[in-house]
This record gives sequence, C-alpha cells and structure tokens, in this order.
Amino acid sequence: MANYECSEKFTSFLQELPKCEHHVHLEGTLEPALLFQLAKRNNITLPSHFPPTPEACNERYNNFADLQDFLDHYYIGMGVLIKEDDFYDLAMEYFKKASSDGCLHSEVFFDPQGHVERGISIDTVVKGFDRACKDATSKFGTTNKLIMCLLRHLPSAAGLETIKSASPYYEQGIIHGLGLDSSEKPFPPELFKECYDHVNENFPNVGLTAHAGEEGDSSYVANAFNHLNVTRIDHGINSQHDEELLNKLADGRHMLSVCPLSNVKLQVVKDVAELPIQLFFDKNVPFSINSDDPAYFGGYILDNYVAVHTRFGFSHEQWCTIAKNGIDGSWCDEDRKKQLREKVDEVYKKHA
Ligand code: ADE
Ligand code: ZN
Repeated sequence: MANYECSEKFTSFLQELPKCEHHVHLEGTLEPALLFQLAKRNNITLPSHFPPTPEACNERYNNFADLQDFLDHYYIGMGVLIKEDDFYDLAMEYFKKASSDGCLHSEVFFDPQGHVERGISIDTVVKGFDRACKDATSKFGTTNKLIMCLLRHLPSAAGLETIKSASPYYEQGIIHGLGLDSSEKPFPPELFKECYDHVNENFPNVGLTAHAGEEGDSSYVANAFNHLNVTRIDHGINSQHDEELLNKLADGRHMLSVCPLSNVKLQVVKDVAELPIQLFFDKNVPFSINSDDPAYFGGYILDNYVAVHTRFGFSHEQWCTIAKNGIDGSWCDEDRKKQLREKVDEVYKKHA
C-alpha cells in the first residue's frame, strides 16, 4: 500500500480531534484473528476457498478486484457470528478501537439479512449489538447509534419484511436509522422506495441514509434523495460529476460519509489523492471521513484521517471545519453536538 503516514505532531492532533464516524459496518470490523477464534468457538468449517489463516486473509485483502469481490468474501466471513455474545464481542472490539482513535460518536451499520438467512434470529443480532452499544458508552464515554441496512441485492419485499421484524427495535429507540448497502449496480435506490416510505411513515424520527455513488454514477445519489427521502449519503464520491447535485448537497447541508481507504482497496481509485475531497471542501459539500470495513481495508478512522492529511494537507482550522461538519451531520441530540463542538475548539486551541 502507498505510504499514508504524516508527522507525529499532526497525527496526535488528528487523534485528539473529536471525530464522529457515520460509515462503518460492524460486520466489516471482524478482524481475521477474531474470525478464526469465533469459527473455532462455534465449530464452523469455512469453505475450502476461504484463506486458511489470518495472514492469508490479510494477503487476500490486498487483492480485492472490486466491491463484489469483497462482498463475496465478507458474507462468508460473517458466517462465524452465531451467538449473542459473538455480536457483542465484535462490536465491543470496534468501540474500543474507535475510542482509542479519538472517535467520540459512532453511527454503526449492521446487515440483519446476512444473519437471518443463515438461521440466526434478528433478536440475537440486535441484542448483542445493543448491549455493546450501551457498555461502550459506560466504559469509554463514547456515544453511538445503530443503523440497520437492507441488502440491495435482495428484493425490496424481503427488505420490507426485515423492517417489520425490526419494528419493536425502532419503537424502543434501539435502532435509529435505515441504510442500504451491498452490490450497488444494478440495484438503484428507487427499487427500495416502499421500504423507506414505510419507515418514514411509521417511525418519523428514524434517520434515513443509503450507499450511493460508490461504484454507481451520480444518478444513484440524486435518486436516493428523490425517491428515498434520505438526508445524507454513504460514499457519494461520484456526485463530483454533477454540478447541480453538488450545489444541492451544499445548500441542503446533506453530508457524504466518505471512506478513503475503502475506495483504494476496492479499486474505485488508485490513490486517496484522486478522491474529490478538495472539491467537496471548496464547494462547501459537508463530508465525514470513515473506515467502512476497517478489518478488510487496512485502517480504522484515524488511519483514514491521516491518509487524507497526507494527500490534501488541510490546516488545523480546516480540519476543525471537517470535524464540525461531521458533528452537524450526526443523528445525536443537540446537547451532545454542542459538547462535541466545544471539544473541537479546545483541541484547536491546544494545537494550532
Ligand atoms: N457492505 C459492506 N461494505 C460495503 C460497501 N463498501 N459498499 C456496499 N456495501 C457494503
Ligand atoms: Zn459501506
């Protein structure tokens, strides 16, 4: 991988800068070591074409041809998650690492359909993740929200069933958002209109987002707004080719949750330098910087911040603007946002 290291001094500024993560799949935080540990604990035999050791996994992770090649591996990997404690352990490891990276608020995705289709109940999944969310807050002082994603390679009717099965968790405020992930092409957002309408009508306080413009063109982003009523977009980098869309994102303060190292590992770009991050900054398009599937893509949130700094060299002040845009685009309450903004100002005073 290219060298994405910056000076020790700037790295410690970026570490201390209060960060919010809006785009991380809990199943994508399954490190090879935990994957093999859980396979053993649950007596799971991985398929013969699966890399046989953690080292072989890491080698494989340097050679994803594209999003689909990664997803084929990711869905097999998550097959080692069986019991409530497995989901708990997975999420707890992520929250611990995120906290040590200076990530103070995380909004985390999970893919219930990837588990239910293997015979794991949605209750097992959500109970494990929810317990970890609550324990992370008491142990690390960080805040978090769970976002349920629908797999877009499955029919919309299956998505609607999943939403209905998750209704108690939406009602109890245990799940806070709805997202859409998996193979982007050829599954445009409008296919899932009935799912998003259902959540919008029945749980109006739930946040709506969707992956769009990762491999799909800018029409995927525009159509997520037009048909799904989302307020933000995951990835969204292909918005760069549509001037009118960029203006709409900026004027409406619609945040893009950008994932730099993911884009490199999935061959969307060859280097972080090719991402439209300077363009978004200059056009006032709010964006946050995220890890997506850190166990697979070679870095957690701080590694992604550092990688962006090596290529775009933002000033302390510009980094504070990026951090505050991430706070504004979060789904936590105003008190928490205020607290986080004040912490940004404190870190600025200390370092600039
Ligand atoms: N599921 C996990 N990671 C993903 C990504 N980068 N794009 C779409 N679906 C995903
Ligand atoms: Zn993603």
